[in-house]
Amino acid sequence: MARGITPEFKERVLARVDLVELIGARVALRRVGKEYLGLCPFHNEKTPSFTVVPDKQFYHCFGCGANGNAIDFLIQYDRLDFPEAVTELARQAGMDLPNADAPPREGPDPRPLYDTLAQAAAFYQRQLRTHPQAQRAVDYLKGRGLSGTIAARFGLGFAPPGWDALLAQLGAGRDGRARLAAAGLIIERDDGRCYDRFRDRIMFPIHDRRGRVLGFGGRILDQGEPKYLNSPETAVFHKGRELYGLYQARAASRQPPRLLVVEGYLDVIALAQFELPYAVATLGTATTPEQLTRLLRSAPELVFCFDGDRAGRAAAWKALTTALPQVGRQQPVRFLFLPEGEDPDTLVRKEGRVAFEQRLTGATPLSTFLFEHLSTGLDLTTAEGRAALDAAARPLLERVPAGTYRGLLAQQLARLVGLPPPVGGRAAPRRAARVPAPQMDLTRRAIALLLDEPGLAAALTVRPTDWSALRQPGADLLQELLAQIDAAPGLTGGMLRERLRDSPYEPIIAQRSELLAIDLTYEGKAAEVQGAIERLNEQAGRAGRARLWEVRSLADLTPEQRTALRARRGRRADH
Ligand code: UTP
Ligand code: MN
Repeated sequence: MARGITPEFKERVLARVDLVELIGARVALRRVGKEYLGLCPFHNEKTPSFTVVPDKQFYHCFGCGANGNAIDFLIQYDRLDFPEAVTELARQAGMDLPNADAPPREGPDPRPLYDTLAQAAAFYQRQLRTHPQAQRAVDYLKGRGLSGTIAARFGLGFAPPGWDALLAQLGAGRDGRARLAAAGLIIERDDGRCYDRFRDRIMFPIHDRRGRVLGFGGRILDQGEPKYLNSPETAVFHKGRELYGLYQARAASRQPPRLLVVEGYLDVIALAQFELPYAVATLGTATTPEQLTRLLRSAPELVFCFDGDRAGRAAAWKALTTALPQVGRQQPVRFLFLPEGEDPDTLVRKEGRVAFEQRLTGATPLSTFLFEHLSTGLDLTTAEGRAALDAAARPLLERVPAGTYRGLLAQQLARLVGLPPPVGGRAAPRRAARVPAPQMDLTRRAIALLLDEPGLAAALTVRPTDWSALRQPGADLLQELLAQIDAAPGLTGGMLRERLRDSPYEPIIAQRSELLAIDLTYEGKAAEVQGAIERLNEQAGRAGRARLWEVRSLADLTPEQRTALRARRGRRADH
Protein backbone atom coordinates (compact mmCIF):
# COMPACT_ATOMS: atom_id res chain seq x y z
CA MET A 1 0.00 0.00 0.00
CA ALA A 2 1.30 3.42 -0.90
CA ARG A 3 2.38 5.80 1.78
CA GLY A 4 -0.43 7.45 3.67
CA ILE A 5 -3.12 5.41 1.90
CA THR A 6 -4.49 2.89 4.33
CA PRO A 7 -7.06 0.23 3.39
CA GLU A 8 -9.58 2.14 5.50
CA PHE A 9 -8.95 5.35 3.61
CA LYS A 10 -9.36 3.55 0.30
CA GLU A 11 -12.67 2.08 1.49
CA ARG A 12 -13.92 5.49 2.57
CA VAL A 13 -12.98 7.00 -0.78
CA LEU A 14 -14.74 4.26 -2.71
CA ALA A 15 -17.83 4.66 -0.56
CA ARG A 16 -18.05 8.32 -1.53
CA VAL A 17 -17.55 7.87 -5.26
CA ASP A 18 -20.39 7.66 -7.74
CA LEU A 19 -19.07 5.36 -10.42
CA VAL A 20 -21.74 6.27 -12.96
CA GLU A 21 -20.87 9.93 -12.57
CA LEU A 22 -17.15 9.26 -12.76
CA ILE A 23 -17.37 7.15 -15.89
CA GLY A 24 -20.24 9.15 -17.36
CA ALA A 25 -17.97 12.20 -17.45
CA ARG A 26 -15.73 10.33 -19.88
CA VAL A 27 -17.93 7.82 -21.67
CA ALA A 28 -21.46 8.34 -22.98
CA LEU A 29 -23.68 6.03 -20.92
CA ARG A 30 -27.31 5.14 -21.37
CA ARG A 31 -29.51 3.69 -18.71
CA VAL A 32 -30.80 0.16 -19.31
CA GLY A 33 -32.81 -1.08 -16.35
CA LYS A 34 -30.59 -1.03 -13.32
CA GLU A 35 -27.43 -0.72 -15.35
CA TYR A 36 -25.74 1.69 -17.68
CA LEU A 37 -24.43 0.80 -21.08
CA GLY A 38 -21.93 2.47 -23.39
CA LEU A 39 -19.22 1.95 -25.96
CA CYS A 40 -16.22 0.43 -24.26
CA PRO A 41 -13.37 2.95 -23.90
CA PHE A 42 -10.83 0.14 -23.72
CA HIS A 43 -11.38 -1.44 -27.10
CA ASN A 44 -12.90 -0.53 -30.45
CA GLU A 45 -16.51 -1.52 -30.78
CA LYS A 46 -19.61 -0.45 -32.64
CA THR A 47 -22.23 -2.00 -30.39
CA PRO A 48 -22.03 -1.18 -26.70
CA SER A 49 -20.90 -3.95 -24.38
CA PHE A 50 -19.45 -1.79 -21.63
CA THR A 51 -21.65 -2.03 -18.55
CA VAL A 52 -21.61 0.00 -15.35
CA VAL A 53 -23.50 -1.52 -12.41
CA PRO A 54 -24.20 1.20 -9.83
CA ASP A 55 -25.41 -1.25 -7.19
CA LYS A 56 -22.09 -2.99 -7.23
CA GLN A 57 -20.02 0.11 -8.10
CA PHE A 58 -18.41 -2.04 -10.72
CA TYR A 59 -17.90 -1.86 -14.47
CA HIS A 60 -17.42 -4.69 -16.89
CA CYS A 61 -16.94 -5.00 -20.62
CA PHE A 62 -18.33 -8.13 -22.21
CA GLY A 63 -16.26 -7.47 -25.30
CA CYS A 64 -12.74 -7.19 -23.93
CA GLY A 65 -13.11 -8.23 -20.31
CA ALA A 66 -11.98 -4.92 -18.81
CA ASN A 67 -13.51 -4.59 -15.38
CA GLY A 68 -13.07 -3.02 -11.97
CA ASN A 69 -14.08 -0.30 -9.57
CA ALA A 70 -13.53 3.47 -9.61
CA ILE A 71 -9.84 3.14 -8.78
CA ASP A 72 -9.31 0.61 -11.57
CA PHE A 73 -11.12 2.87 -13.98
CA LEU A 74 -8.82 5.79 -13.32
CA ILE A 75 -5.79 3.52 -13.53
CA GLN A 76 -6.93 2.11 -16.85
CA TYR A 77 -8.50 5.19 -18.41
CA ASP A 78 -6.49 8.09 -17.05
CA ARG A 79 -3.38 5.95 -16.71
CA LEU A 80 -2.81 6.98 -13.14
CA ASP A 81 -0.97 4.76 -10.75
CA PHE A 82 -2.69 3.46 -7.66
CA PRO A 83 -1.88 6.29 -5.22
CA GLU A 84 -2.66 8.88 -7.87
CA ALA A 85 -6.04 7.29 -8.55
CA VAL A 86 -7.00 7.19 -4.88
CA THR A 87 -5.78 10.74 -4.40
CA GLU A 88 -7.76 11.96 -7.41
CA LEU A 89 -10.95 10.29 -6.19
CA ALA A 90 -10.43 11.70 -2.70
CA ARG A 91 -9.96 15.15 -4.15
CA GLN A 92 -13.16 14.84 -6.19
CA ALA A 93 -15.02 13.71 -3.11
CA GLY A 94 -13.67 16.68 -1.15
CA MET A 95 -11.87 14.50 1.36
CA ASP A 96 -8.68 15.41 3.19
CA LEU A 97 -5.71 13.74 1.61
CA PRO A 98 -3.44 11.54 3.63
CA ASN A 99 -0.06 13.19 3.99
CA ALA A 100 1.80 11.92 0.96
CA ASP A 101 5.14 13.09 2.29
CA ALA A 102 4.83 11.32 5.61
CA PRO A 103 7.73 8.99 6.12
CA PRO A 104 6.94 5.32 5.64
CA ARG A 105 6.46 3.33 8.78
CA GLU A 106 9.51 1.17 8.31
CA GLY A 107 13.06 2.05 7.29
CA PRO A 108 14.88 5.31 7.76
CA ASP A 109 13.39 8.55 6.49
CA PRO A 110 14.52 8.88 2.84
CA ARG A 111 14.07 12.64 2.72
CA PRO A 112 17.67 13.56 3.61
CA LEU A 113 18.75 11.22 0.82
CA TYR A 114 16.57 13.00 -1.75
CA ASP A 115 17.94 16.32 -0.51
CA THR A 116 21.51 15.16 -0.93
CA LEU A 117 20.80 13.90 -4.45
CA ALA A 118 19.13 17.18 -5.39
CA GLN A 119 22.08 19.14 -4.03
CA ALA A 120 24.50 16.94 -5.95
CA ALA A 121 22.52 17.43 -9.17
CA ALA A 122 22.60 21.19 -8.66
CA PHE A 123 26.32 21.05 -7.94
CA TYR A 124 27.08 19.11 -11.13
CA GLN A 125 24.90 21.41 -13.19
CA ARG A 126 26.70 24.44 -11.79
CA GLN A 127 30.08 22.92 -12.58
CA LEU A 128 29.12 22.61 -16.22
CA ARG A 129 28.87 26.39 -16.37
CA THR A 130 31.59 27.43 -13.99
CA HIS A 131 34.33 24.87 -13.51
CA PRO A 132 37.65 25.86 -15.14
CA GLN A 133 37.76 22.55 -16.95
CA ALA A 134 34.11 22.44 -17.96
CA GLN A 135 34.79 23.77 -21.43
CA ARG A 136 35.80 20.29 -22.55
CA ALA A 137 32.43 18.97 -21.45
CA VAL A 138 30.55 21.80 -23.09
CA ASP A 139 32.48 21.26 -26.29
CA TYR A 140 31.74 17.58 -26.17
CA LEU A 141 28.00 18.17 -25.81
CA LYS A 142 28.01 20.78 -28.57
CA GLY A 143 30.01 18.39 -30.73
CA ARG A 144 27.20 15.91 -30.28
CA GLY A 145 24.70 18.49 -31.40
CA LEU A 146 22.99 19.19 -28.09
CA SER A 147 21.47 22.61 -27.52
CA GLY A 148 21.80 24.47 -24.23
CA THR A 149 18.04 24.36 -23.80
CA ILE A 150 17.85 20.62 -24.03
CA ALA A 151 20.85 20.18 -21.73
CA ALA A 152 19.03 22.31 -19.18
CA ARG A 153 15.76 20.42 -19.62
CA PHE A 154 17.51 17.17 -18.75
CA GLY A 155 19.60 18.79 -16.02
CA LEU A 156 22.93 17.76 -17.51
CA GLY A 157 25.99 18.48 -15.44
CA PHE A 158 29.71 17.99 -15.11
CA ALA A 159 31.55 16.05 -12.43
CA PRO A 160 34.95 17.75 -12.19
CA PRO A 161 38.18 15.80 -12.37
CA GLY A 162 40.01 15.13 -9.12
CA TRP A 163 38.98 12.98 -6.21
CA ASP A 164 36.95 15.12 -3.91
CA ALA A 165 35.10 17.93 -5.69
CA LEU A 166 31.71 16.69 -4.47
CA LEU A 167 33.07 15.53 -1.12
CA ALA A 168 34.48 18.97 -0.44
CA GLN A 169 31.16 20.54 -1.31
CA LEU A 170 28.65 18.28 0.44
CA GLY A 171 30.69 15.93 2.58
CA ALA A 172 31.23 18.12 5.64
CA GLY A 173 31.16 16.19 8.88
CA ARG A 174 30.22 12.63 9.54
CA ASP A 175 26.62 13.25 8.55
CA GLY A 176 27.36 14.77 5.18
CA ARG A 177 29.70 11.98 4.35
CA ALA A 178 27.27 9.29 5.45
CA ARG A 179 24.59 10.81 3.27
CA LEU A 180 26.83 10.96 0.22
CA ALA A 181 27.68 7.32 0.79
CA ALA A 182 24.01 6.37 1.18
CA ALA A 183 23.28 8.22 -2.06
CA GLY A 184 25.98 6.21 -3.83
CA LEU A 185 27.95 9.33 -4.68
CA ILE A 186 31.18 8.52 -2.89
CA ILE A 187 33.16 5.35 -2.52
CA GLU A 188 34.64 4.34 0.83
CA ARG A 189 37.98 2.63 0.78
CA ASP A 190 38.95 -0.11 3.18
CA ASP A 191 41.06 2.30 5.19
CA GLY A 192 37.99 4.45 5.77
CA ARG A 193 38.94 7.23 3.35
CA CYS A 194 36.47 8.34 0.71
CA TYR A 195 36.55 9.67 -2.83
CA ASP A 196 34.01 10.85 -5.43
CA ARG A 197 32.44 8.10 -7.48
CA PHE A 198 31.92 10.33 -10.53
CA ARG A 199 35.01 12.15 -11.78
CA ASP A 200 35.55 14.01 -15.03
CA ARG A 201 32.27 12.87 -16.49
CA ILE A 202 29.16 14.37 -18.06
CA MET A 203 26.37 13.78 -15.58
CA PHE A 204 22.85 12.65 -16.48
CA PRO A 205 20.53 12.90 -13.47
CA ILE A 206 17.90 10.16 -13.30
CA HIS A 207 14.53 11.36 -12.02
CA ASP A 208 11.56 9.52 -10.62
CA ARG A 209 8.04 10.23 -11.90
CA ARG A 210 7.71 13.12 -9.51
CA GLY A 211 10.89 14.74 -10.71
CA ARG A 212 13.09 13.88 -7.74
CA VAL A 213 16.67 12.93 -8.55
CA LEU A 214 17.35 9.32 -7.60
CA GLY A 215 20.76 8.73 -9.11
CA PHE A 216 23.04 9.50 -12.02
CA GLY A 217 24.61 8.15 -15.15
CA GLY A 218 28.01 9.60 -15.98
CA ARG A 219 29.60 9.52 -19.43
CA ILE A 220 33.31 9.67 -19.97
CA LEU A 221 34.49 12.57 -22.15
CA ASP A 222 37.16 10.80 -24.07
CA GLN A 223 37.83 7.22 -24.80
CA GLY A 224 37.96 5.07 -21.71
CA GLU A 225 36.28 2.47 -19.62
CA PRO A 226 33.61 2.31 -18.57
CA LYS A 227 31.96 4.59 -21.08
CA TYR A 228 29.02 5.04 -18.72
CA LEU A 229 29.16 4.77 -14.98
CA ASN A 230 25.85 4.53 -13.12
CA SER A 231 24.83 5.08 -9.52
CA PRO A 232 24.66 1.86 -7.54
CA GLU A 233 21.36 0.64 -6.11
CA THR A 234 20.47 2.69 -3.04
CA ALA A 235 17.50 2.99 -0.70
CA VAL A 236 15.77 5.14 -3.31
CA PHE A 237 17.34 4.06 -6.61
CA HIS A 238 16.39 0.76 -8.19
CA LYS A 239 17.51 0.31 -11.79
CA GLY A 240 14.84 -2.21 -12.59
CA ARG A 241 12.10 0.18 -11.59
CA GLU A 242 13.03 3.53 -13.07
CA LEU A 243 13.07 4.74 -16.63
CA TYR A 244 15.34 7.49 -17.79
CA GLY A 245 13.35 10.31 -19.40
CA LEU A 246 9.89 9.26 -18.22
CA TYR A 247 9.64 12.32 -16.02
CA GLN A 248 10.54 14.61 -18.92
CA ALA A 249 8.18 12.77 -21.28
CA ARG A 250 5.29 13.22 -18.89
CA ALA A 251 6.24 16.82 -18.29
CA ALA A 252 6.16 17.44 -22.05
CA SER A 253 2.70 15.96 -22.37
CA ARG A 254 0.28 14.49 -19.86
CA GLN A 255 -0.86 12.02 -22.49
CA PRO A 256 2.04 11.29 -24.82
CA PRO A 257 0.91 9.61 -28.06
CA ARG A 258 3.27 6.73 -27.38
CA LEU A 259 6.38 5.85 -25.49
CA LEU A 260 9.51 4.77 -27.25
CA VAL A 261 12.01 2.63 -25.38
CA VAL A 262 15.57 3.24 -26.53
CA GLU A 263 18.92 2.13 -25.18
CA GLY A 264 20.90 5.25 -24.41
CA TYR A 265 20.59 8.43 -22.41
CA LEU A 266 21.76 10.44 -25.38
CA ASP A 267 19.16 8.82 -27.62
CA VAL A 268 16.41 10.05 -25.28
CA ILE A 269 17.84 13.53 -25.27
CA ALA A 270 18.46 13.75 -29.03
CA LEU A 271 14.91 12.62 -29.76
CA ALA A 272 13.51 15.21 -27.35
CA GLN A 273 15.57 17.87 -29.07
CA PHE A 274 13.99 16.83 -32.36
CA GLU A 275 10.54 17.22 -30.88
CA LEU A 276 9.99 13.57 -30.20
CA PRO A 277 9.69 14.07 -26.45
CA TYR A 278 8.43 10.60 -25.57
CA ALA A 279 11.52 8.42 -25.55
CA VAL A 280 12.71 6.69 -22.39
CA ALA A 281 15.66 4.45 -21.67
CA THR A 282 16.21 1.60 -19.30
CA LEU A 283 19.27 2.05 -17.16
CA GLY A 284 21.69 -0.22 -18.94
CA THR A 285 19.57 -3.35 -18.34
CA ALA A 286 16.82 -5.26 -20.12
CA THR A 287 13.28 -3.98 -19.57
CA THR A 288 11.80 -5.46 -16.41
CA PRO A 289 8.13 -6.42 -15.92
CA GLU A 290 7.81 -3.57 -13.45
CA GLN A 291 9.09 -1.03 -15.96
CA LEU A 292 6.74 -2.47 -18.53
CA THR A 293 3.73 -2.02 -16.29
CA ARG A 294 4.69 1.58 -15.79
CA LEU A 295 5.21 2.13 -19.51
CA LEU A 296 1.87 0.61 -20.46
CA ARG A 297 0.15 2.86 -17.94
CA SER A 298 1.76 5.98 -19.29
CA ALA A 299 0.80 5.89 -22.97
CA PRO A 300 -1.61 4.21 -25.37
CA GLU A 301 1.17 2.65 -27.40
CA LEU A 302 4.63 1.29 -26.78
CA VAL A 303 7.45 0.98 -29.29
CA PHE A 304 10.71 -0.76 -28.46
CA CYS A 305 13.64 0.46 -30.49
CA PHE A 306 16.63 -1.76 -31.12
CA ASP A 307 19.64 -2.11 -33.38
CA GLY A 308 18.94 -4.17 -36.46
CA ASP A 309 21.93 -6.42 -35.75
CA ARG A 310 21.88 -9.80 -34.07
CA ALA A 311 22.42 -8.45 -30.57
CA GLY A 312 19.59 -5.98 -31.13
CA ARG A 313 17.24 -8.74 -32.31
CA ALA A 314 18.14 -10.84 -29.29
CA ALA A 315 17.44 -7.92 -26.98
CA ALA A 316 14.14 -7.29 -28.76
CA TRP A 317 13.15 -10.91 -28.32
CA LYS A 318 13.91 -10.63 -24.62
CA ALA A 319 11.68 -7.56 -24.41
CA LEU A 320 8.94 -9.42 -26.28
CA THR A 321 8.97 -12.34 -23.87
CA THR A 322 8.85 -9.92 -20.94
CA ALA A 323 5.92 -8.13 -22.55
CA LEU A 324 3.79 -11.20 -23.33
CA PRO A 325 2.13 -11.48 -19.89
CA GLN A 326 1.09 -7.85 -20.09
CA VAL A 327 -0.03 -7.35 -23.67
CA GLY A 328 -3.52 -7.25 -25.01
CA ARG A 329 -5.36 -4.39 -23.38
CA GLN A 330 -5.82 -2.50 -26.60
CA GLN A 331 -2.31 -1.22 -26.34
CA PRO A 332 -0.21 -2.03 -29.33
CA VAL A 333 3.36 -3.02 -28.57
CA ARG A 334 5.68 -2.70 -31.54
CA PHE A 335 9.32 -3.06 -32.46
CA LEU A 336 11.47 -0.73 -34.47
CA PHE A 337 14.69 -2.12 -35.88
CA LEU A 338 17.24 0.44 -36.92
CA PRO A 339 19.61 0.15 -39.87
CA GLU A 340 23.02 -1.30 -38.99
CA GLY A 341 25.36 1.15 -37.36
CA GLU A 342 22.66 3.64 -36.44
CA ASP A 343 21.13 4.50 -33.12
CA PRO A 344 18.17 6.84 -32.60
CA ASP A 345 20.55 9.69 -31.87
CA THR A 346 22.44 9.41 -35.16
CA LEU A 347 19.38 8.53 -37.18
CA VAL A 348 17.15 11.37 -36.09
CA ARG A 349 19.96 13.83 -36.75
CA LYS A 350 20.46 12.36 -40.20
CA GLU A 351 16.88 12.10 -41.41
CA GLY A 352 14.95 14.43 -39.13
CA ARG A 353 11.80 14.21 -37.09
CA VAL A 354 9.26 13.40 -39.79
CA ALA A 355 11.15 10.50 -41.30
CA PHE A 356 11.91 9.10 -37.87
CA GLU A 357 8.29 9.32 -36.81
CA GLN A 358 7.34 7.52 -40.02
CA ARG A 359 9.59 4.69 -38.97
CA LEU A 360 7.73 4.62 -35.68
CA THR A 361 4.29 4.41 -37.20
CA GLY A 362 5.52 1.66 -39.49
CA ALA A 363 7.17 -0.33 -36.70
CA THR A 364 6.68 -4.10 -36.59
CA PRO A 365 3.69 -5.25 -34.51
CA LEU A 366 4.50 -7.64 -31.70
CA SER A 367 2.56 -10.43 -33.39
CA THR A 368 4.55 -10.09 -36.61
CA PHE A 369 7.86 -10.10 -34.81
CA LEU A 370 6.74 -13.06 -32.71
CA PHE A 371 5.87 -15.31 -35.63
CA GLU A 372 8.70 -14.05 -37.81
CA HIS A 373 11.25 -14.80 -35.13
CA LEU A 374 9.83 -18.26 -34.44
CA SER A 375 9.71 -19.08 -38.15
CA THR A 376 13.35 -18.20 -38.70
CA GLY A 377 15.12 -21.24 -40.12
CA LEU A 378 11.90 -23.21 -40.53
CA ASP A 379 10.47 -24.29 -43.87
CA LEU A 380 6.79 -23.53 -43.56
CA THR A 381 6.03 -25.28 -46.84
CA THR A 382 6.59 -28.59 -45.07
CA ALA A 383 4.44 -30.25 -42.43
CA GLU A 384 7.55 -30.57 -40.26
CA GLY A 385 8.30 -26.86 -40.39
CA ARG A 386 4.71 -25.93 -39.60
CA ALA A 387 4.56 -28.40 -36.73
CA ALA A 388 7.78 -26.95 -35.32
CA LEU A 389 6.36 -23.42 -35.49
CA ASP A 390 3.21 -24.61 -33.81
CA ALA A 391 5.13 -26.29 -31.01
CA ALA A 392 7.34 -23.24 -30.45
CA ALA A 393 4.49 -20.74 -30.47
CA ARG A 394 2.00 -22.44 -28.19
CA PRO A 395 3.86 -22.05 -24.89
CA LEU A 396 4.45 -18.39 -25.70
CA LEU A 397 0.80 -17.74 -26.50
CA GLU A 398 -0.09 -19.31 -23.19
CA ARG A 399 1.73 -16.48 -21.44
CA VAL A 400 -0.58 -13.90 -23.00
CA PRO A 401 -3.54 -13.06 -20.76
CA ALA A 402 -6.71 -14.83 -21.88
CA GLY A 403 -8.74 -12.46 -24.01
CA THR A 404 -9.39 -11.25 -27.48
CA TYR A 405 -5.75 -10.53 -28.22
CA ARG A 406 -4.65 -14.04 -27.33
CA GLY A 407 -7.47 -15.40 -29.45
CA LEU A 408 -6.27 -13.36 -32.39
CA LEU A 409 -2.71 -14.58 -31.96
CA ALA A 410 -3.99 -18.16 -31.88
CA GLN A 411 -5.92 -17.47 -35.08
CA GLN A 412 -2.86 -16.09 -36.76
CA LEU A 413 -0.88 -19.15 -35.70
CA ALA A 414 -3.61 -21.42 -37.02
CA ARG A 415 -3.47 -19.66 -40.39
CA LEU A 416 0.31 -19.93 -40.49
CA VAL A 417 0.35 -23.64 -39.78
CA GLY A 418 -2.69 -24.23 -41.99
CA LEU A 419 -5.15 -25.47 -39.39
CA PRO A 420 -8.71 -24.28 -39.00
CA PRO A 421 -8.78 -21.44 -36.45
CA PRO A 422 -9.41 -22.54 -32.88
CA VAL A 423 -13.03 -22.16 -31.81
CA GLY A 424 -12.06 -20.17 -28.74
CA GLY A 425 -10.17 -17.70 -30.86
CA ARG A 426 -13.27 -16.01 -32.20
CA ALA A 427 -13.32 -12.28 -31.78
CA ALA A 428 -16.72 -12.49 -30.10
CA PRO A 429 -15.96 -15.14 -27.52
CA ARG A 430 -19.28 -15.08 -25.73
CA ARG A 431 -21.06 -16.30 -28.80
CA ALA A 432 -18.73 -19.25 -29.18
CA ALA A 433 -20.73 -21.26 -26.68
CA ARG A 434 -23.75 -21.18 -28.95
CA VAL A 435 -21.97 -21.91 -32.19
CA PRO A 436 -22.24 -25.61 -32.87
CA ALA A 437 -18.67 -26.81 -33.07
CA PRO A 438 -17.66 -30.07 -34.69
CA GLN A 439 -18.37 -32.96 -32.37
CA MET A 440 -14.69 -33.71 -31.92
CA ASP A 441 -14.00 -30.20 -30.71
CA LEU A 442 -16.87 -30.26 -28.31
CA THR A 443 -15.53 -33.20 -26.36
CA ARG A 444 -11.97 -31.98 -26.47
CA ARG A 445 -12.97 -28.54 -25.38
CA ALA A 446 -15.00 -29.89 -22.50
CA ILE A 447 -11.92 -31.82 -21.39
CA ALA A 448 -9.71 -28.76 -21.62
CA LEU A 449 -12.22 -26.62 -19.77
CA LEU A 450 -12.50 -29.09 -16.93
CA LEU A 451 -8.76 -29.51 -16.69
CA ASP A 452 -8.43 -25.76 -16.39
CA GLU A 453 -11.24 -25.31 -13.98
CA PRO A 454 -12.52 -28.51 -12.36
CA GLY A 455 -14.95 -26.43 -10.30
CA LEU A 456 -17.09 -26.06 -13.44
CA ALA A 457 -18.45 -29.53 -12.80
CA ALA A 458 -20.39 -28.19 -9.84
CA ALA A 459 -22.42 -25.98 -12.17
CA LEU A 460 -23.54 -28.88 -14.38
CA THR A 461 -27.04 -30.26 -14.22
CA VAL A 462 -26.27 -33.41 -16.21
CA ARG A 463 -23.90 -36.29 -15.79
CA PRO A 464 -22.84 -38.87 -18.35
CA THR A 465 -25.30 -41.69 -18.92
CA ASP A 466 -23.95 -45.05 -20.08
CA TRP A 467 -21.39 -44.11 -22.73
CA SER A 468 -20.12 -47.65 -23.33
CA ALA A 469 -21.67 -47.71 -26.80
CA LEU A 470 -19.85 -44.53 -27.85
CA ARG A 471 -16.86 -44.56 -30.10
CA GLN A 472 -16.29 -40.84 -29.61
CA PRO A 473 -12.60 -40.19 -28.93
CA GLY A 474 -12.15 -38.50 -25.60
CA ALA A 475 -15.53 -39.50 -24.20
CA ASP A 476 -13.88 -41.94 -21.81
CA LEU A 477 -11.46 -39.29 -20.58
CA LEU A 478 -14.26 -36.78 -20.09
CA GLN A 479 -16.16 -39.36 -18.10
CA GLU A 480 -13.08 -40.12 -16.03
CA LEU A 481 -12.53 -36.43 -15.29
CA LEU A 482 -16.10 -35.96 -14.14
CA ALA A 483 -15.84 -39.02 -11.92
CA GLN A 484 -12.61 -37.78 -10.36
CA ILE A 485 -14.02 -34.33 -9.71
CA ASP A 486 -17.25 -35.70 -8.26
CA ALA A 487 -15.21 -37.89 -5.93
CA ALA A 488 -13.09 -34.95 -4.74
CA PRO A 489 -14.86 -31.66 -5.40
CA GLY A 490 -12.04 -29.39 -4.18
CA LEU A 491 -9.56 -30.53 -6.84
CA THR A 492 -7.56 -27.89 -8.64
CA GLY A 493 -6.61 -28.33 -12.28
CA GLY A 494 -3.07 -29.14 -11.27
CA MET A 495 -4.19 -31.82 -8.81
CA LEU A 496 -6.54 -33.32 -11.36
CA ARG A 497 -3.80 -33.54 -13.92
CA GLU A 498 -1.51 -35.01 -11.31
CA ARG A 499 -4.02 -37.81 -10.66
CA LEU A 500 -4.02 -38.76 -14.32
CA ARG A 501 -0.28 -38.80 -14.68
CA ASP A 502 0.92 -42.22 -15.91
CA SER A 503 -2.63 -43.12 -16.95
CA PRO A 504 -3.41 -43.95 -20.59
CA TYR A 505 -4.89 -40.45 -20.80
CA GLU A 506 -1.65 -38.63 -20.14
CA PRO A 507 -0.69 -38.07 -23.79
CA ILE A 508 -4.14 -36.67 -24.57
CA ILE A 509 -3.91 -34.32 -21.65
CA ALA A 510 -0.48 -33.18 -22.75
CA GLN A 511 -1.92 -32.20 -26.14
CA ARG A 512 -4.69 -30.06 -24.82
CA SER A 513 -2.69 -26.86 -25.29
CA GLU A 514 -4.38 -26.32 -28.65
CA LEU A 515 -7.34 -25.13 -26.64
CA LEU A 516 -5.47 -22.36 -24.97
CA ALA A 517 -7.47 -19.71 -26.77
CA ILE A 518 -10.44 -20.32 -24.55
CA ASP A 519 -11.98 -17.00 -23.73
CA LEU A 520 -15.37 -17.43 -22.15
CA THR A 521 -17.12 -16.36 -19.02
CA TYR A 522 -17.51 -18.92 -16.27
CA GLU A 523 -21.12 -19.46 -17.30
CA GLY A 524 -20.08 -19.81 -20.92
CA LYS A 525 -17.56 -22.47 -20.00
CA ALA A 526 -20.00 -24.39 -17.86
CA ALA A 527 -22.57 -24.17 -20.66
CA GLU A 528 -20.08 -25.59 -23.07
CA VAL A 529 -19.19 -28.54 -20.86
CA GLN A 530 -22.87 -29.13 -20.24
CA GLY A 531 -23.53 -29.01 -23.98
CA ALA A 532 -20.82 -31.54 -24.67
CA ILE A 533 -22.17 -33.98 -22.10
CA GLU A 534 -25.71 -33.58 -23.41
CA ARG A 535 -24.59 -34.24 -26.95
CA LEU A 536 -22.67 -37.32 -25.86
CA ASN A 537 -25.61 -38.53 -23.79
CA GLU A 538 -27.83 -38.14 -26.82
CA GLN A 539 -25.38 -39.95 -29.05
CA ALA A 540 -24.87 -42.66 -26.51
CA GLY A 541 -28.62 -43.11 -26.37
CA ARG A 542 -28.85 -43.42 -30.14
CA ALA A 543 -25.85 -45.72 -30.35
CA GLY A 544 -27.25 -47.89 -27.59
CA ARG A 545 -30.62 -48.16 -29.32
CA ALA A 546 -28.98 -48.97 -32.64
CA ARG A 547 -27.06 -51.72 -30.98
CA LEU A 548 -30.18 -53.15 -29.45
CA TRP A 549 -31.81 -53.40 -32.86
CA GLU A 550 -28.85 -55.34 -34.16
CA VAL A 551 -29.29 -58.01 -31.56
CA ARG A 552 -30.94 -61.14 -32.90
CA SER A 553 -31.23 -63.30 -29.88
CA LEU A 554 -32.69 -62.09 -26.63
CA ALA A 555 -30.44 -64.58 -24.92
CA ASP A 556 -27.43 -62.32 -25.69
CA LEU A 557 -28.88 -59.52 -23.64
CA THR A 558 -28.68 -58.56 -20.00
CA PRO A 559 -32.02 -58.47 -18.18
CA GLU A 560 -32.06 -54.64 -18.30
CA GLN A 561 -31.38 -54.60 -22.03
CA ARG A 562 -34.14 -57.12 -22.56
CA THR A 563 -36.59 -54.91 -20.71
CA ALA A 564 -35.44 -51.89 -22.69
CA LEU A 565 -35.79 -53.70 -25.96
CA ARG A 566 -39.23 -54.98 -25.12
CA ALA A 567 -40.34 -51.52 -24.18
CA ARG A 568 -39.04 -50.06 -27.47
CA ARG A 569 -40.48 -52.80 -29.61
CA GLY A 570 -43.75 -52.45 -27.82
CA ARG A 571 -43.78 -48.71 -28.40
CA ARG A 572 -43.00 -49.17 -32.08
CA ALA A 573 -45.77 -51.71 -32.39
CA ASP A 574 -48.19 -49.19 -30.96
CA HIS A 575 -47.53 -46.81 -33.84
P1 UTP B 1 25.63 2.76 -25.76
O1 UTP B 1 27.09 2.55 -25.66
O2 UTP B 1 24.89 2.21 -26.94
O3 UTP B 1 25.27 4.24 -25.48
O4 UTP B 1 24.97 2.26 -24.43
P2 UTP B 1 24.95 5.47 -26.34
O5 UTP B 1 23.87 6.21 -25.67
O6 UTP B 1 24.83 5.21 -27.80
O7 UTP B 1 26.30 6.18 -26.02
P3 UTP B 1 26.97 7.29 -26.78
O8 UTP B 1 26.06 7.71 -27.88
O9 UTP B 1 28.28 6.74 -27.25
O10 UTP B 1 27.15 8.30 -25.71
C1 UTP B 1 23.59 2.40 -24.23
C2 UTP B 1 23.29 2.54 -22.76
O11 UTP B 1 23.84 1.45 -22.06
C3 UTP B 1 24.30 1.86 -20.79
C4 UTP B 1 23.97 3.33 -20.67
O12 UTP B 1 22.70 3.44 -20.04
C5 UTP B 1 23.89 3.77 -22.10
O13 UTP B 1 23.10 4.92 -22.29
N1 UTP B 1 25.76 1.68 -20.66
C6 UTP B 1 26.56 1.66 -21.75
C7 UTP B 1 26.29 1.51 -19.42
O14 UTP B 1 25.57 1.51 -18.42
N2 UTP B 1 27.66 1.36 -19.29
C8 UTP B 1 28.49 1.39 -20.36
O15 UTP B 1 29.71 1.26 -20.19
C9 UTP B 1 27.92 1.52 -21.62
MN1 MN C 1 24.87 6.64 -29.24
